[in-house]
Amino acid sequence: MKLAVFSVAAIFSVVTPTIAQDVANGEKEFRKCKACHMIQDADGTDIVKGGGVGPNLWNVVGRNVASLEGFSYGDGIASVAAANPDMVWDEAHLTEYVTDPQAWIDANGGDGKTKMTFKMRKAQEDLVAYLVSVSPDAPAGDSADAADADAPAASN
Ligand code: HEC
Repeated sequence: MKLAVFSVAAIFSVVTPTIAQDVANGEKEFRKCKACHMIQDADGTDIVKGGGVGPNLWNVVGRNVASLEGFSYGDGIASVAAANPDMVWDEAHLTEYVTDPQAWIDANGGDGKTKMTFKMRKAQEDLVAYLVSVSPDAPAGDSADAADADAPAASN
């Protein structure tokens, strides 16, 4: 039974690599985050109005961990950043972090508690694809959706 499910998933990912992440669904999933997080661009324009308990997540992909000026981070995430000064948020770290922030801190050399009391149980990849879409400075990586969004319109 387990094996059958696994092989279907494997085939699916081979056949449809570019729609594996669903930005539109990720945008819906962000409703779970906005009680604590806003997405507000550098001009102060709200992309998603949200709370200020957590840091603004605009341009988070490619940003150094725990580096938003003026936000008071907890000891756990701050110690991960201190132990890994060059660490930036990429898709892999974000996926693990939103799944279980405390486990991510513990696995990345951190020491101390997370202030983010939220765990995401499904659709993490879609959510992260959405975060890429609101991160204009994200390095061109393995996200096909982000690359598509940035691609210039076809010329005549
Ligand atoms: C209950 C409030 C709450 C919810 C809900 C929440 N967060 Fe957070 N988040 C926080 C807090 C507080 C922090 C700061 C963590 C710390 O200092 O330990 C944080 C930190 C983060 C960071 C680190 C950002 C940085 O500047 O390094 C990311 C990324 C993040 N959250 C993403 C999300 C996403 C995506 C969701 C929804 C799936 C979400 N959070 C839901 C409160 C929340």
